[in-house]
Amino acid sequence: MNKTVIVTGATGAIGFAIAHKIASLKNWDVVLAARNTQKGEAAVEKIIKQTGNKNVKLVIADLSLKKDIDKLLKEWQGPLNVLINNAAITPIKRKENSEGIEMQWALNVLGYWRMIEGFSAILSESAKTEYSRIVNVASFWAGGLDLNDVEFKTDFTITMQHIDSPNSPIECSVLFLKNS
Ligand SMILES: NC(=O)c1ccc[n+]([C@@H]2O[C@H](COP(=O)([O-])OP(=O)(O)OC[C@H]3O[C@@H](n4cnc5c(N)ncnc54)[C@H](OP(=O)(O)O)[C@@H]3O)[C@@H](O)[C@H]2O)c1
Repeated sequence: MNKTVIVTGATGAIGFAIAHKIASLKNWDVVLAARNTQKGEAAVEKIIKQTGNKNVKLVIADLSLKKDIDKLLKEWQGPLNVLINNAAITPIKRKENSEGIEMQWALNVLGYWRMIEGFSAILSESAKTEYSRIVNVASFWAGGLDLNDVEFKTDFTITMQHIDSPNSPIECSVLFLKNS
């Protein structure tokens, strides 16, 4: 039976490369998560064409938004073996999403966390018969996260937020493992 992987940020450089590589392996169903339909469809088409794997699909979600992740989880059908959280941003200016949350915190941290939490039951089920994995892609330059100002309300500089936020997926992974 095929195994299933979901790759977020699969229209970007690293996410596309990950999705492409897995699709080229035998017995994998690959689901690309993208926020932009046009870019997502183009990525799916390219991967199918280049790998010959027809089991490549697209789901649309702005992963900075709770409502989009909730919808994705509600509509998800079937098993999942591997979740690859990769979609992340490093914005130059502080910006909030339509839910009023600072974008980087919303996507790079809450987005990863919500995907992990939301898919954990399905992943645990897969682990009983096959295996399951969660992969959180993060920056090597990760530093300490200021828990008193996770949305950069008092200090938003490109250096600060680059150092701070990419670390959070790593902290997320550690926290999740400690709690599981
Ligand atoms: N590039 C590096 O040197 C480097 C180094 C260390 C770690 N990383 C990590 O690698 C990962 C990917 O980086 P990359 O260089 O491949 O970045 P990238 O090319 O900029 O791709 C980012 C991806 O995230 C998606 N995305 C952005 N905002 C989103 C949202 N609100 N909802 C859903 N998807 C969203 C983008 O979609 P759109 O196509 O619609 O914009 C794109 O597919 C990140 O976690 C980054 O921290 C990168």
